[in-house]
Amino acid sequence: MDYNRQSLLPLEFTGEPGVGKVLIIGGAGYIGSHIVKRVLERGMQTIVFDNLQTGHREAVIGGTFIQGDIGDERILQEIFAAHEIDSVIHMAADCLVGDSMKDPLKYFNNNVSKGLNLLGAMLKHNVNKMVFSSSAAVYGNPTRVPIEEDSPPLPVNPYGETKLIFEKILESCKVAHGLQYISLRYFNAAGADPDGLIGEDHHPETHLIPTVLMALLKKGRKVPIYGTDYDTPDGTCIRDYIHIVDIAEAHILALEALHGGEGSDIFNLGNGKGFSVKQIIQMASTVTGRTIPVIETQRRPGDPPILIASSEKIGRKLGWFPRYEKLEDIIATAWRWHRTHPHGFRSSSLKKGGKGWT
Ligand code: UFG
Repeated sequence: MDYNRQSLLPLEFTGEPGVGKVLIIGGAGYIGSHIVKRVLERGMQTIVFDNLQTGHREAVIGGTFIQGDIGDERILQEIFAAHEIDSVIHMAADCLVGDSMKDPLKYFNNNVSKGLNLLGAMLKHNVNKMVFSSSAAVYGNPTRVPIEEDSPPLPVNPYGETKLIFEKILESCKVAHGLQYISLRYFNAAGADPDGLIGEDHHPETHLIPTVLMALLKKGRKVPIYGTDYDTPDGTCIRDYIHIVDIAEAHILALEALHGGEGSDIFNLGNGKGFSVKQIIQMASTVTGRTIPVIETQRRPGDPPILIASSEKIGRKLGWFPRYEKLEDIIATAWRWHRTHPHGFRSSSLKKGGKGWT
């Protein structure tokens, strides 16, 4: 599909008759924009709402775009009044573990308080389906891996706390108001759109894989390895990296499940395989054919040593299975994006021409 052309179609691109619109809050972000692409590929109508604080207008390749903040009740009411929205994907959040340790109030405000406005507006307009982007950070330092959804949630950083609190709010709204929700607890989102249209572009970039790849593109950069004294085989933290396209696909299945009358639920989203920081750096070196410059430093506060998902439940209940199981394939799609967009979306030819999509 030629998205550049599609996004120049009139704003009200019509999808399947009788299917309402999906409102994607935070759809200009890294994960959100890949979900938007997938939802559009499925012919659904989308409205993306994003404050563009960390997202990029250029990342939203089609559908209707509205700039705004979910803290603004008035604009939310207007959107729900003006559009026939029947489900919401809520992705808008601050999402950096380390940052949340330094500025917890920002996290509680943006990830919890503002989310209440969204829920209030939804319920007022009888919109009762939400797919919520939750996180592996709710588990804290789990005693058993792979982690199952019934593992006790004991977050060790404010970011994880905010995601857990919001899940509890969703459950209360289910009981009180009949909200139907699916909460997806992502493990480490990675990779980029295989078509090369969109990818990860954070300022500043703190995530491991883009930091490693960008160190190859920006002279003089070294990748800090945060802690080499963890109780893991090579002393560095272990994470479960899941491709962004697999995450996007899970949102489609979650929407379909909610429309098909499935009850509310919580699912992990991961590959079920753990890789240490050093293993990631090694694999990036293999994929790119270059040596990655590194510097070993102290631990980053708030980092759990090991997070590996069991995604058995979502496979069994929603039929979701990761297509990008190999770490090298995940890193290869990320490398393609960074190599062709060394300045992120600022490398985009459309932006260079001074005209964004409308
Ligand atoms: N790391 C480094 N050097 C870096 C960047 C990261 O050593 O330059 C390490 C971190 O200490 C951590 C691992 O690489 O051990 C992964 O770090 P990321 O910053 O890439 O990701 P996080 O695990 O901190 O967090 C991500 C998302 C969260 C989500 C979590 C779920 O940002 O929103 O995955 O596992 F909750």
